[in-house]
Amino acid sequence: MNDVASASLAGAVAASIDGRHFQFAGTSDVMFEPGGLVVLRAPGGAGPAQLGQVEDVRFELGGVPHGSGRILGLLSADERDLDLRVSVAFPSAALQAADARTTELLYRAQAATLPIGSFLASPDIPARLVAQRFNRHTFWCGQSGSGKTYALGVVLEQLLIHTALPMVIFDPNADFVQMRQSHPSGPATDAQRALSERDIRFVDLSLRSKTAVVRLDPLQDRAEHNLLMHLGESVGLIEPAMVVSRLLELDTPAARSFAARIENLRVTDWSVWAGKLQPVTDILDTRPDATVLDLGGFASPEESLVVALAVLDDLWEKRAQRRPLLIVIDEAHNFCAPDAPSPLHVAVRDRLVQIAAEGRKFGLWLLLATQRPSRVHPSIMSQCDNLALMKMTSPADLAQLATVFGFVPPAMLARAARFKQGEALFAGGFVPAPTVASMGPRLTREGGADVGVPLRPAPGSRSE
Ligand SMILES: Nc1ncnc2c1ncn2[C@@H]1O[C@H](COP(=O)(O)OP(=O)(O)OP(=O)(O)O)[C@@H](O)[C@H]1O
Ligand SMILES: [Mg+2]
Repeated sequence: MNDVASASLAGAVAASIDGRHFQFAGTSDVMFEPGGLVVLRAPGGAGPAQLGQVEDVRFELGGVPHGSGRILGLLSADERDLDLRVSVAFPSAALQAADARTTELLYRAQAATLPIGSFLASPDIPARLVAQRFNRHTFWCGQSGSGKTYALGVVLEQLLIHTALPMVIFDPNADFVQMRQSHPSGPATDAQRALSERDIRFVDLSLRSKTAVVRLDPLQDRAEHNLLMHLGESVGLIEPAMVVSRLLELDTPAARSFAARIENLRVTDWSVWAGKLQPVTDILDTRPDATVLDLGGFASPEESLVVALAVLDDLWEKRAQRRPLLIVIDEAHNFCAPDAPSPLHVAVRDRLVQIAAEGRKFGLWLLLATQRPSRVHPSIMSQCDNLALMKMTSPADLAQLATVFGFVPPAMLARAARFKQGEALFAGGFVPAPTVASMGPRLTREGGADVGVPLRPAPGSRSE
């Protein structure tokens, strides 16, 4: 709740006829915003006080603001406890901004333990997420430069510090490759030290998930699959670029068809094909705290898709093990666009659609970050229970989000058009109530901060 609100809501009155929602009217000098937490008190202590959230505010210059909100729970008589299971109707109550202590009751009641920043309107009130609710899919969006990747880093750091939930991060711009190094500002904190003790792996992706690379079906393409499994023996340990010619020398139907497949997919010169390093799927099998897949170094965009497919297919194949894993995909539109432009895109996207629909019960939880909701397949987005929304000015995008994330008050979504960098709306199970926050600082170094425009020295100034 902002200063203006906290100073002036005292004159506001509210009523609730159903014990779930309330209507309110302010006085001519009150201003407050959708998302503000308020305490509703019956006059003269005639009834219990309740905690509520303003969801909608209408206001015309010179008029009286009025609007509606939701009752979140019942406060105890001494207002030191909050019961989220109970709320009651009331004919009249005074409305006052909730202070830090009362807000804390809500966050405590929901076990929100991951500090991510502060309430945008009240820098003294910390904003926290509920770690337990990362067992759902999360959709994270905001236009370019809104601060998604930075903010995502803040949240992932906290998950690493406070939970034992392993994560794999598809990192297209090498943004997370320095996640083990403390941020250069100031001396290392306890949190930074805790983070530096986590098992964080960086994989340069000399991946050998060959079946995924050439998309062979072990049953349908049995002869080729067999050849692939024994590639080393059949064509020798040779340069990737030589694989096709050596296969053709074998002169068997399977070798010829396999060579054609490799050529058609143009995978011979891909770096994913080569190398004797441990396959990423094997690394993931050991469930390090975080596995950062640096996808930034590939010459061909299709190579990142191959890696994604190999990893996702492997995880899906082993889903019955029910080992929790948070699958974080930055720039998710490159992996699950509705209009996937190639068969490889389609394969990755369809796997993600499947994980979105059925992965939850197997412990495969997605966290997808993107610039535009329309660039992620709708059946993936509609499976997301958590939303993080950063600056987004496009009315069409906001309208789409409002349709998919019906649990977010539309007036709160609309605020995203005016967000500054680093400001975010969190809504859904992973936050006790929809919260507009200002993100806190990263604990570790960012890999891919913006590149500045080089400037010429001002005319007349001397260069050093
Ligand atoms: N909360 C913040 N505090 C300080 N710097 C920030 C913050 N958020 C973002 N930045 C900086 O702003 C720049 C852009 O942020 P970021 O890369 O996170 O945006 P993005 O939304 O991921 O953009 P894109 O969609 O283009 O990837 C980066 O240089 C980052 O360091
Ligand atoms: Mg980004």
